[in-house]
Amino acid sequence: NIKNQPYRTGYHFQPPKNWMNDWTGPMIYKGIYHLFYQWNQNGAVMDVNKTVWGHATSTDLINWITLSPAIRPSRPSDINGCWSGSVTILPNGKPVILYTGNDRYNRQVQNLVKPKNLTDPYLRHWTKSPENPLVTPSPVNHINSSAFRDPTTAWFGRDGRWRITTGSQEGRRGLAILHTSKDFVIWKQSPKPLHYHDGTGMWECPDFFPVARTDSRGLDTSFSSGPMVKHVLKVSLTDTFNDYYTIGTYDEVRDVYVPDKGFVQDETAPRYDYGKFYASKTFYDSVNQRRILWGWVNESSPEKDNIKKGWAGLQAIPRKVWLDESGKRLVQWPVKEIERLRTTQVKWGNKLLKGGSVMEVHGVTAPQADVEVFFKVSGFDLEKADVIEPGWTDPQLICSQRNASSGLGPFGLMVLASKNMEEYTSVNIRIFRAGENSKEHVVVMCSDQSTSSLEKGNDKTTYGAFLDISPYQPISLRTLIDKSIVESFGGKGKTCITSRVYPKLAIGERTHLFAFNKGSQNVNVLSLSAWSMKSSL
Ligand code: FRU
Repeated sequence: NIKNQPYRTGYHFQPPKNWMNDWTGPMIYKGIYHLFYQWNQNGAVMDVNKTVWGHATSTDLINWITLSPAIRPSRPSDINGCWSGSVTILPNGKPVILYTGNDRYNRQVQNLVKPKNLTDPYLRHWTKSPENPLVTPSPVNHINSSAFRDPTTAWFGRDGRWRITTGSQEGRRGLAILHTSKDFVIWKQSPKPLHYHDGTGMWECPDFFPVARTDSRGLDTSFSSGPMVKHVLKVSLTDTFNDYYTIGTYDEVRDVYVPDKGFVQDETAPRYDYGKFYASKTFYDSVNQRRILWGWVNESSPEKDNIKKGWAGLQAIPRKVWLDESGKRLVQWPVKEIERLRTTQVKWGNKLLKGGSVMEVHGVTAPQADVEVFFKVSGFDLEKADVIEPGWTDPQLICSQRNASSGLGPFGLMVLASKNMEEYTSVNIRIFRAGENSKEHVVVMCSDQSTSSLEKGNDKTTYGAFLDISPYQPISLRTLIDKSIVESFGGKGKTCITSRVYPKLAIGERTHLFAFNKGSQNVNVLSLSAWSMKSSL
C-alpha cells in the first residue's frame, strides 16, 4: 500500500503513483486551481516518449483531486510525448495551453489545446487544435529540432501581438526564442531571441514575468513594463539541474530583456532554491493578486528504490514570490493556505542555546511539521566571530566543513532525527566576519543531508547558500518537514533550500526534532513554534 509508505508525503502533492517531473500550466479558473504535471502513467521512471499531462485541481492549493490526464500523445505532432508548456488566460477569460509535442520524427514542436467545455470548472477535457503543430523547428529558422521546447505563458504587447518564449540551445549557447502572434495560431519567429547566454547549455522551462518594484503583490504576465516594474527571466539548466533567475528590464519596443547584472551561473548566482528544485513555473493568481511559484522536487534515491516504492517525484509547497526591497533578489514564502494544516503548536520563548548544546523539541509530530524559529546572536559575539577563510567562496563547501566552528554556529534544527542522532538532517546557520578589519558579516545557510540516513545509496549532497541578512537582527528560519522532504526558508524567504532524505530509523513515531548549537558561542532562541501538520487530500 503506497499510502502507508514511510517516504510518501503527508501534505506535498504527489500523483497516485509512478513518475512525475515538471509542473506545467498552473492556473486559476472559475475559483479552482489547476495543475498539470509531466507524468509517466506506466512506471516510476521517466519515459519521455510516453509523457502525458497529469491533471489535478484544488480550491485551496493544499488539498488536490486528481483527474484523468488532460493531454495524451495521440497525433503525429505529439505521438512521442506531450511535454512541458504553459497556460495563458485569454482576455475573454478562456484558458488555452501551449505545449511541446515530441512529434513522429522526434522533433520538438509547439501545439495548442483548448478546453472542450468552458462551463466545466474542472476543465476535464481538452481539444487539440487541428492546426497543430503551430511552430516547427527547421534549418530555415535555425532552430535545432531537439532543443525547442517548453513555451511560456504568453504576454500581450502594446502592438496587439501575443508573445511567447521557448527554451533552446545552439551549441553551448542557451537561448529564449521569441515568437509573436495576433491570433494565437499563426506564430512568427522574432529576428532576435528574448535573451541568450553563452556557456549555459540548454534553457529548459523558461519563465518570464513582471514583478512590482515596491510591492509584494503579483502582476499579470501581460502587465506592461514601466518604471515600477522589473522583469524576471528564469531558466532551468540541465548541467546541474538548477533553476537560475535574473532580474532585469524588459524593453517592450525592442522586445529584448536586459538583466541588471548579466547572467551568473556560479554557486552564488540567484536561484529559486539551492537544493533540489527544478523545472519550476510561476503563474498569476488573479483572485489573490499574487504570483505563485511551483517546482518539481525529484528523488535523491536510486532508481531501483523508486521502482520499489512505485513512485518518484513530488511538488514543493506552492510559494508566493515577489521582489525583495533591495531589488537584487526574489523572496519566496509558502502560500498562507498551508497554515490551515497546522494543528498542535509547541512554543518556546527566549531560550538560551548554549554553545555545544542540543535541545529536543517535544510534543510535535516530528515527521510532519512546520517549524519557525528566530535566533538572536549578541552583538558582542558577532564582533568576535571567526573571519571567513579567503578561499571560502562556495557556500556549499562551507556547509560541508565538518569541524565544529570555534565561533558562531552552525546552529539550527536537526530534523527527521533518530533518538540518539544516528540520523538527522541539519538545517543550520553559520556566521563569519567578512574580514579582519571588517564590520560586515557573511551568513551562510546550510541544509546538510550527509547524516540523513544510514542507507548508503542515496544522494546526500550538503547544500548551502549565502543569506543576505544582517545578523544583528533576529535570524529567521522556517522548515517544512514532510517524511522525505525538508523545505527550508532562511531570512524570511530570501534563501530557500529543499532536500530529499530517506531515514531508516527516524520514521513515524521514532522521529525527533532538535534545536542545536555546535558553535562555541551561545545563541538565543527568541522564539520557536513547531506545528504538527495534518495530512492533505
Ligand atoms: C524538464 C524537461 C522539459 C521537457 C520535459 C519532458 O525537466 O526536460 O524540458 O519539456 O521535461 O518531460
